[in-house]
Amino acid sequence: MNIQWYPGHMTKTRRMMAENISLVDVVIELLDARIPMSSKNPDIDKLAANKKRIIVLNKADLADDEITQQWTDYFKKEGFCAVKVDSSTGKGINSITELSKELMREKIERLKKRGRIFVPTRAMIVGIPNVGKSTLINRLVGKSAAKTGDKPGITKAKQWIRIKKDFELLDTPGILWPKFDDQSIGMKLAFTGAINDNILDEYTLALKLTECLKIKYPQRLKERYSIEFNTDSTSDTILDMIGEKRGFKAKGAEIDKKRTAEILIDEFRGAKLGKISLEQISDFVSE
Ligand code: G4P
Repeated sequence: MNIQWYPGHMTKTRRMMAENISLVDVVIELLDARIPMSSKNPDIDKLAANKKRIIVLNKADLADDEITQQWTDYFKKEGFCAVKVDSSTGKGINSITELSKELMREKIERLKKRGRIFVPTRAMIVGIPNVGKSTLINRLVGKSAAKTGDKPGITKAKQWIRIKKDFELLDTPGILWPKFDDQSIGMKLAFTGAINDNILDEYTLALKLTECLKIKYPQRLKERYSIEFNTDSTSDTILDMIGEKRGFKAKGAEIDKKRTAEILIDEFRGAKLGKISLEQISDFVSE
């Protein structure tokens, strides 16, 4: 299967992002904790060069805790600040503002020595579609935050939200489209819902997901659907077993493959098969 992915408006979005990034001190880059590498757009390294960076492994509630911790340590070793977060509940989000201020400490002290009384930290959230940017912004904003209005001296009106006395967030997140030549990356983005379902037929997607889960989490599949299979079982057979168990029938005794595929994808996305990480550091880095 070949995933074709040509999102429109890329140039315009990139231009807007470059403009916005120039206004902030800290760039908060959201990754999907289940697929940290595939959800990372390498363009951000160019766009955010010279900026302080925080990598947020979002949706940590859906990913394997131990593996997410390994990714956090990995990004720290690579020289980034990294935190794991569940934006849907707000777990871990306080460390984002704390880290931002920590990253700004030197600049703030320098400017204060030069006589500046108040130096707010300004930040922007970036990431691929569906990674949770709006959810995180809403969480950070909460009830207490106030919109600060347009800043004088900035030609285009930008809306800043004051999260804390000295921490302001740009209210428009930077959208980066996923980037990939490798089809397995496209597939993982499709499993997690980062790219539109319509560009793939769901049965093929479910087959690929089954293939992946059969290798990485066979026990979860067996337990969730009360089925038995071995490494030789094909994904098609496993999906049929799931359909059979659930009683999804099309015509006569035939398994309703479409419905079975939808259920597997839905249940994976909704963590009904438990917390699952589709990428481990060892998949990318040889020790
Ligand atoms: P975006 O701005 O980056 O495009 O993403 P957005 O915040 O719209 O989030 C996309 C989906 O991911 C939403 O679900 C949202 O609730 C969910 N989400 C965001 N952060 C987290 C997280 O940390 N954990 C979990 N489990 N889910 C998260 P949706 O189904 O599209 O919408 P909704 O039904 O939740 O409103």
